Amino acid sequence: MKHCKILFVCLGNICRSPSAEAVMNGVIEDAGLEEFIMCDSAGTYGYHAGQNADARMQSHAIKRGYDLTSISRKIIKDDFKDFDYIIAMDNSNYDDLISFAQIAEDRAKIYKIIDFCSTMSPSEVPDPYYGGDAGFEEVLDILEDATNGLLNHLKKGVDNE
Ligand code: 4NP
Repeated sequence: MKHCKILFVCLGNICRSPSAEAVMNGVIEDAGLEEFIMCDSAGTYGYHAGQNADARMQSHAIKRGYDLTSISRKIIKDDFKDFDYIIAMDNSNYDDLISFAQIAEDRAKIYKIIDFCSTMSPSEVPDPYYGGDAGFEEVLDILEDATNGLLNHLKKGVDNE
């Protein structure tokens, strides 16, 4: 398997993308592929830069065994050089990434996380920030489905041939 670097992106990098990073790291560990696949996360909006993941998101995640350790940061232009996959959590993150990308080669790295879902069919990972407990659980449900699909995609090497 080729080495691969994945950047998960949401708005604040304190709820959805840190969760995507932790859930995907669990899937990678279960598959014994830590040597090949590296994950990170970032936000399109820098307001929460330097902060830990949202406490509500952390408490929902830890109940499923995911420890959210990442510190919020804003995406930078060099991320398009450093990462192979830049994966948006919702449609507005996707549009912002498409606008931020400088060249066609960068734009070709941008995906929506829901494209990798195999059992659920959500239109995006909804922003849980202003909602209640159900929203945080829904984020984790979608991410568990999508990260399994993403791993299968990487194992097939569809984009590596
Ligand atoms: P995230 O959630 O994009 O999943 O990290 C949000 C975090 C912060 C805000 C909105 C969404 N905010 O408005 O500060």
